[in-house]
Amino acid sequence: DAEDDLKPRAPIVTIMGHVDHGKTSLLDYIRKAKVAAGEAGGITQHIGAYDVTTESGKKITFLDTPGHEAFTAMRARGAKITDVVIIVVAADDNVMPQTKEAINHAQSAGVPIVIAINKIDKPNANPEKIREELAKENVLVEEWGGKYQSQEISAKSGKGIDELLEKVLLEAELLDLKANPKKKAVGSVIEAALDKGRGYVATVMVQAGTLKIGDILLAGAHYGRVKAMLNHKGARVKEVGPSTPVQILGLDGAPQAGEKFNVMESERDAREIANKREQI
Ligand code: GTP
Ligand code: NA
Ligand code: MG
Repeated sequence: DAEDDLKPRAPIVTIMGHVDHGKTSLLDYIRKAKVAAGEAGGITQHIGAYDVTTESGKKITFLDTPGHEAFTAMRARGAKITDVVIIVVAADDNVMPQTKEAINHAQSAGVPIVIAINKIDKPNANPEKIREELAKENVLVEEWGGKYQSQEISAKSGKGIDELLEKVLLEAELLDLKANPKKKAVGSVIEAALDKGRGYVATVMVQAGTLKIGDILLAGAHYGRVKAMLNHKGARVKEVGPSTPVQILGLDGAPQAGEKFNVMESERDAREIANKREQI
């Protein structure tokens, strides 16, 4: 890509952490607080990812996947979607096995971590103990002279969440994330399934380029002309640029999560490659 074709793109963030430490609550809070209501006629739907605009006016795209398994499955297929990982640790609990696993996953993928110390509203919350336990895992937070940003939050009241998002943006700035919106789209499949009435529906993350209605998309052993696209608010869109999740209609099957996609010149070429892949 020519240097001036590269434009800043929003960071793509995954939330991980131990069971019941508040991953879903945090995502739900952010979604409710930051996602504007759907356009008239649009049906708000779960598409496995969504983007939000923060207090500072910057965008963050959240991958709403069930944590470790999806992250691992995607990595196994070579998809590198996540730019920053938020690791949620409940302040009324401890650094738990899945917390450590999440730290290991993020570290071995080379993805920066921001720590969210959650449930700070609880009377028995002990964030200092969490920082201490993290230090034992070599995750030294900034307050302790380390390199990890952390933020005390309550996914229940929303306390600290704006600050957390700004820390995520700070982390993302260091990565200098850019993509060329002018070229044909490339990206990864987040999820796909057969939908009664609509046919195969795939949620994909556009990572570079622009995906347009009518494009011939090839993902793993499946292909098809993009008939329609819906954003996470359920609104129809004609084209989407980098760091945007979108639901697409028109594929001839359901590619697996983590499968990469690209846009082909001709339907014949797409079919030929898809058929070859099917035989493997
Ligand atoms: P799994 O998906 O099952 O691993 O759990 P999770 O990490 O998504 O946790 P979830 O958001 O389901 O929260 C677990 C419980 O903790 C729920 O009962 C939440 O209401 C509660 N909870 C989450 N965040 C907070 C918080 O900040 N404060 C309080 N008081 N409760 C919270
Ligand atoms: Na839970
Ligand atoms: Mg959950």
